[in-house]
Amino acid sequence: MNIAVIGTGYVGLVTGTCFAETGNNVLCVDIDQKKVEMLKKGVVPIYEPGLELLFQRNTKQGRLHFTTELREAVDIAEIIFLALPTPPGEDGSADLSYILGVAKDLGKLIHSYTVIVDKSTVPVGTSEMVTSAIRTELDKRFTPEDAAEGLFDVVSNPEFLREGVAVEDFMKPDRVVIGTSSERAANKMKQLYEPFVRQGNPIYIMDERSAEMTKYAANSYLATRISFMNEIANLCEAMGADVDKVRIGMGSDNRIGKRFLFPGIGYGGSCFPKDVQALAKTAEEHGYEFQILKSVMKVNEKQKSRIYQKVYEFFRGDLKGKTFALWGLAFKPNTDDIREAPALTIIEELLEAGAKIRAFDPEAVENVRTLLGTKIDYFQDQYEVLVDADALIIATEWNVFRTPGFDVLRKLLRQPVIFDGRNLYDLHVMESEGFYYNSIGRKTVK
Ligand SMILES: NC(=O)c1ccc[n+]([C@@H]2O[C@H](COP(=O)([O-])OP(=O)(O)OC[C@H]3O[C@@H](n4cnc5c(N)ncnc54)[C@H](O)[C@@H]3O)[C@@H](O)[C@H]2O)c1
Repeated sequence: MNIAVIGTGYVGLVTGTCFAETGNNVLCVDIDQKKVEMLKKGVVPIYEPGLELLFQRNTKQGRLHFTTELREAVDIAEIIFLALPTPPGEDGSADLSYILGVAKDLGKLIHSYTVIVDKSTVPVGTSEMVTSAIRTELDKRFTPEDAAEGLFDVVSNPEFLREGVAVEDFMKPDRVVIGTSSERAANKMKQLYEPFVRQGNPIYIMDERSAEMTKYAANSYLATRISFMNEIANLCEAMGADVDKVRIGMGSDNRIGKRFLFPGIGYGGSCFPKDVQALAKTAEEHGYEFQILKSVMKVNEKQKSRIYQKVYEFFRGDLKGKTFALWGLAFKPNTDDIREAPALTIIEELLEAGAKIRAFDPEAVENVRTLLGTKIDYFQDQYEVLVDADALIIATEWNVFRTPGFDVLRKLLRQPVIFDGRNLYDLHVMESEGFYYNSIGRKTVK
């Protein structure tokens, strides 16, 4: 099939590349000229495991192309995916200007039957807004007799991939959700997705509104699980229980399940914070107060400051001139994405208190450098950051941090002190290695 993907970010580039991998001819469109130039030269602008290999194969074999021209996409594509940003507006609701702007442009351009697919995360009712934005433009170009009605269908096809395992998630999705009232569009979408569900995972066809709600409900539920576990962890600390044992005990119950029960320093990234906020806002607009989500957000904000509080208490508030080594900047491992990363909150709070920061991350350093410039020091080596630091703070659970040389840590740090926001180490090991070790929801090793 001939496919176009509008917006070539984390979702769009993975979507386009994976569709090319199953034999489709894919044109990716982005307004960012620099990004398109890089892609045309064969450079993948984001870090996502496994993406590079598929990208190189499909560009070389001529199935994956890039442009800044929307018109080119319209001319070739039977299906056009919108993988555009939906950032929070000032009031917390999703900003739909990217989506509706492109919808309007599509209305000016389409000339033969096209399925327009919304892959971005959008509030309930967006597919109707997209439909009306396209139709308004079509009405200017076609008379009713020209049957403009039949020129397009809008489908809601929310994306559930996780950054860090995006390619794997896209190639083998747990389920595919397709929201449409058009049988013609549904059939085209099923045909496109068939190669991805050969192991029997379901393709659910539903109405547009339910599809849009499914994505918000899923992300908000996952965020709720995280905030719930963070509160359990904080309570464990206060009561002398060990959250890791509690987590295993809880998770063995099939009704609960083992995944997504890890406490930490709050959820971040480009999805959970904005999606929870947007769903709460949508609820409010419909006269419904979504109380749980309000608490989820409040708990998360507090949790992001948890490490700072622990550091503050340890140093009795005297942080001026202290130096901290920071392991991890990305909002989670295996990505270079730093949007809403808890590490950024820690940096901001420590800088405000007059501390200095030496940071290392396997992939995200350049993104933080672009954001913070010379406010902190950056290193290419996880051990170099430790030199003369008063403590090590761990903010992202990259695998390379899991079994470090503790003797080297002891030698390089000014004192053997670790604040671990991701519970990477065994308490007994830390005790025998002679560290002060403060983690989340567990006893402090002194
Ligand atoms: N990142 C994730 O893990 C993830 C997962 C599932 C769903 N989503 C949703 O998918 C959507 C996209 O997220 P993302 O993380 O890929 O965003 P992103 O910011 O990485 O990418 C968006 C891209 O769209 C481009 N763009 C903006 N306006 C454009 C226009 N008019 N024409 C063409 N291109 C344009 C930008 O230049 C950018 O490259 C969001 O709604 C997000 O909530 C994201």
